[in-house]
Amino acid sequence: MFESEIYVERRKKLKEKIGSGLLLFLGNEESPMNYPDNAYRFRQDSHFLYFFGLDSPGLAGLIDVDEDKDIIFGNDVSMEDIIWMGCQPLLKDRAAEVGVKVTFPFKKLGEVLNNALEKGRKVHYIPVYRQETAFKIENLLGIRSEKVNKYSSKALIKAAVDLRSKKIKQEIEQIEEALDITYEMHTTAMRMAVPGRYEQEIAGTIEGIALSYGADIAFPVILTVNGQILHNHYHGNKLQKGQLMVNDSGAESVMHYAGDITRTIPVGGRFSQKQREIYEIVLNAQLKAIEFTSPGRKNKDVHIKAVQTIASGLKELGIMKGDIKEAVKAGAHALFMPHGLGHMMGLDVHDMEGLGENHVGYDEKTKRSGQFGLAYLRFAKKLEPGFVLTIEPGIYFIPALIDKWFKEKKFMDYIDYKKVGQYRDFGGIRIEDDILVTDKGHRVLGKPIPKTVEEVEAITAKE
Ligand code: GLY
Ligand code: MN
Repeated sequence: MFESEIYVERRKKLKEKIGSGLLLFLGNEESPMNYPDNAYRFRQDSHFLYFFGLDSPGLAGLIDVDEDKDIIFGNDVSMEDIIWMGCQPLLKDRAAEVGVKVTFPFKKLGEVLNNALEKGRKVHYIPVYRQETAFKIENLLGIRSEKVNKYSSKALIKAAVDLRSKKIKQEIEQIEEALDITYEMHTTAMRMAVPGRYEQEIAGTIEGIALSYGADIAFPVILTVNGQILHNHYHGNKLQKGQLMVNDSGAESVMHYAGDITRTIPVGGRFSQKQREIYEIVLNAQLKAIEFTSPGRKNKDVHIKAVQTIASGLKELGIMKGDIKEAVKAGAHALFMPHGLGHMMGLDVHDMEGLGENHVGYDEKTKRSGQFGLAYLRFAKKLEPGFVLTIEPGIYFIPALIDKWFKEKKFMDYIDYKKVGQYRDFGGIRIEDDILVTDKGHRVLGKPIPKTVEEVEAITAKE
């Protein structure tokens, strides 16, 4: 947990931004795997963590803006709980650690909210992503569960995004703590990538590394020799010499700040000529995009910089052709990179995505494109100091998409489909780092993880 002043300050700023009413933050509950008492590892709601800091189930936070009062609702443990879970600190003592002086048993929340509603006071809440939270809101505020997100507070969404987007020093330290663990996950995977080993042996080992630090993974590990499937969670393949293995994985720190790194590794320890050529294009695009990252610049332009670099590189290999600026404008490059350059990162690996991507990555001055590829860019608006974003370009050869476009005769002026045919079984390459936007430019977070062809080959297990 951070020092209490940080949480007090966050709630104070939130009150200033909203002006009046009540702000309701429901913490998460235990989530059952296969029967009620057999739960997944508990993950607290990130907004609750941000404003109220307490990392356990069964809590709610309420901020009364008009009375300048912060309250945490929750229950102290019963004797039965003590028998099964051991003694737990009292809620009032835990609340004091995050600067909250008033606590009540959970059942009092309904009464407090009822009183507020009877007086016609506004209760703000943010969109929910767990059905049980929607049911809680239905019970507390009388809004049908399926309408809960529709009636969530735009003002609270905006205020939360404003605050959570700009990371303070202590949050950057947390992200770098996650990245220290992530470093070990990635370098271990490189050392393990020998032919004959199964993906799941590596995926399991690196997930175990995160757990061994008392941390967790920030998202399910993507580790695959089929890197052309962007979010491939199948880990049952046996590695074969000459394959490329994409490892997109990251830990979250004990305080739940995320790390998110991708490296692409040649199984057996050496890139082929063909792999090296594509790898160098992706790396060049990533380095150019990082270099271009600075406050005041739109992330959409950073994305364009990256995809132009990719398209130019593919032209040099004869895969794309024609006027590259025009090709990118038309969206032809998206055959090879059908996703956005990256996303904001913080307490969530896709930070605040539960509020709606457009609220986080777009604004009045930056509207989402409808074009295939660019439309998937999660964060397009102007960069500001304190933002943390991933930069993760890739090149993929997706046979089904290639066939579809060829059949439709799409972008025949910009794509040499005959040449593309030579790469049909290539797979995919992605390279990702986490970048802090600073006052003057940017900083790549975490210890450098092998990334150049030479660095990756040097550490990767030789057959
Ligand atoms: N690391 C997975 C993603 O960024 O979507
Ligand atoms: Mn990512």
